[in-house]
Amino acid sequence: MFISDTHLPQLLPAHAYHDEAWYEREVEKALLPAWHVVATSGDFPRDGSFVSLKLLGRPLLLRRDGGEIHGFLNVCPHRFATLTDAPRGCTAVLKCGYHGWEFDGCSGSTRRIPDAPAFRPLEKGQLGLTQVQVEVCGGLVFVSVGQPQQSVTTQLAACDCDPAVHTSQHGEIGRREVLLPVNWKVAVENTLESYHVAEVHPRTFTTAPPENACRHELTTAGSCFSGPGDTRRTVVGLERLLLGRLGVSRHGGYRHTHLHPTFTLAATDSFAILLSFLPESARLTRLVVAWFARQSGSSRTLADRLLRIWAGVQSRFWLQVVGEDAAIVPRVQAGLEATAQPGGGLISRREERIVHFQRWLLDRLELPVPVAAQPMSQGAVP
Ligand code: FES
Ligand SMILES: [Fe+2]
Repeated sequence: MFISDTHLPQLLPAHAYHDEAWYEREVEKALLPAWHVVATSGDFPRDGSFVSLKLLGRPLLLRRDGGEIHGFLNVCPHRFATLTDAPRGCTAVLKCGYHGWEFDGCSGSTRRIPDAPAFRPLEKGQLGLTQVQVEVCGGLVFVSVGQPQQSVTTQLAACDCDPAVHTSQHGEIGRREVLLPVNWKVAVENTLESYHVAEVHPRTFTTAPPENACRHELTTAGSCFSGPGDTRRTVVGLERLLLGRLGVSRHGGYRHTHLHPTFTLAATDSFAILLSFLPESARLTRLVVAWFARQSGSSRTLADRLLRIWAGVQSRFWLQVVGEDAAIVPRVQAGLEATAQPGGGLISRREERIVHFQRWLLDRLELPVPVAAQPMSQGAVP
């Protein structure tokens, strides 16, 4: 069932989806202090494995050392070069490629400086790399460049989402990155409603489930949609058999979680797909897609292998869904950029998770919710 009894207003003005000043405010107040999935644990198979990337305009270096993934600003404290511009790789030493300063792989403090006496009286350990926060949940690597109020594990728990159940390093079976020519909110909001299903997904989802089969949950950290999963008899039988081999019972449902602002995970009992919407600019979003098979914790059992094959089959369906959404969102962006209306837009009860997201964003931006907006039932928000 839905939460609101009535339709709802669009809370964000159209220019919020393309205006540069609005975007800069979002970066400072909402995006930098939040958690974002930028990689998966499969990117770090051994100590020394690293990934370099840009998040919200900041160059970052994630590298595994001592069995854990550590995050740093990819800026050398000596003369500000990036340590590396290779997108990924594996190095025995964390070292800058300009003058060869070496850093401790866990703390980022300086370890070896060529011709160190020339820097007297600099002490070893001074002038280290700037650390950024990293949290690994299941097979997902979350990063925050700012100071998040809570750990991502706590925030995910508030959404009743445990990525460790659905994602694991050996369960990852595919990855794709797509550049969407849209504001990140256009792409996120598309995933928060099932109203577009009949028009956009006629060959995949075909129709949206009826209201009485849907459940929306709104929490301080995000929102969730639960609905029916695949009911085809062969699918149900196969999944029950494979999951039974793992000692897991099949619930048969589908759950989509949105953790504010950019993380979404859609999961069934046997399959999960991550969509991480990483803003590149006011009009460009880098979508990281990764998909996973449910696993037992060991990659060697026959059931694990069969579940990975089964997840590979399911991924074709889900990637088609992603492609269908990717094709429609630029049209939303084009319309938003063409509208001069300060207000406008109307949100149905089926789209109410969008309003919850927009409220969260306005709160982060310290902007008032438009007066006309009536609150939804707050009973569902802890
Ligand atoms: S800039 Fe990195 S060692 Fe000089
Ligand atoms: Fe969709």
